[in-house]
Amino acid sequence: MRVLVTGGCGFIGSHFVKRLVSGGDEVVVLDKLTYSGRKENLDSVDCNLAVGDIADPEAVAQAAVGCKAIVNFAAETHVDRSILGATDFGRTEFFGTQVLLEEVRRTGARFVQVSTDEVYGDLERGGSAKETDPANPSSPYSVAKAAGDLHVPAYVRTFGVNASITRGSNTYGPRQYPEKLVPLFVTNALDGQPLPVYGDGRQVRDWLHVDDHCAGVEFVLREGRPGEIYNIAGGNERENIEITHRIVELTGVSPSLVRYVTDRPGHDRRYSLDSSKLRSLGWEPTRDFEEGLADTVDWYRSNRSWWEPIKSGEYLDYYRRQYAERLA
Ligand code: TYD
Repeated sequence: MRVLVTGGCGFIGSHFVKRLVSGGDEVVVLDKLTYSGRKENLDSVDCNLAVGDIADPEAVAQAAVGCKAIVNFAAETHVDRSILGATDFGRTEFFGTQVLLEEVRRTGARFVQVSTDEVYGDLERGGSAKETDPANPSSPYSVAKAAGDLHVPAYVRTFGVNASITRGSNTYGPRQYPEKLVPLFVTNALDGQPLPVYGDGRQVRDWLHVDDHCAGVEFVLREGRPGEIYNIAGGNERENIEITHRIVELTGVSPSLVRYVTDRPGHDRRYSLDSSKLRSLGWEPTRDFEEGLADTVDWYRSNRSWWEPIKSGEYLDYYRRQYAERLA
């Protein structure tokens, strides 16, 4: 099948493109190549790349010609950046998703909206979010994602489009832009730089390997039903400080690099996702977390040429705004 993957030059998107291409699908990528969308993520992958914005109906219509499905990975994804300024988040997540749904309304293609467990909000009081739970987002990023998601059931109901939503938990693996916890801490450790732990570091996230995440999205692309949401959870709930200590061990650096810094404003204490729905249909994660994290550290160790050039220019600007005062 010919599939349009939006955001296919990003972290999860590029893994998904590789997965589809190696399974025999024909893939067109539409990517705006913002700071975290990197052409080199698709080096040696046999697909077509169109550079453009999902919020641009013409760019979408051109890229989608002949596609039987659209899978939407395009998003501004970093909570800390959304706290510094959220305008781009609203445009891409809310308006961009609507443009894609207009396209599938016109063409009848299948649509998968790739979303996040963050839309369910803070589960500090316990339990795990089910697909039937209401969205309760707490950051500008998660509000933008939740708002984008809201289009999906509305387009299914109003226009009968064939669209589903996936909600994955915190994803890790090779080629993740070094602003998120795992790649930031791994690359900082490899450079002998501090690891800035927000607050008390006891916040909980559920970690999902990117390969398992992509397998879940592919499963939903092929088997998912219109209007349904599918949670994709790794089943590895860990406190941030545990992950941090593990990264210290795996990189062999001194624990004195760990620095407790001012917390993220509005920081969600705990995410937890119930993925029994998707499991009962036949998907399950296959990557062991300890092994997956060790492999990821090895990847960053062996691929400095991927991340070292990123840590310049715009990145340093962002890093200063985000961390200079915290680490002073
Ligand atoms: P992050 O990777 O930004 O993902 P999300 O906010 O989507 O969960 O952060 C994961 C956790 O790590 C979150 O609780 C915030 C924390 N964190 C730090 O303690 N320090 C950091 O420098 C970053 C980027 C995150």
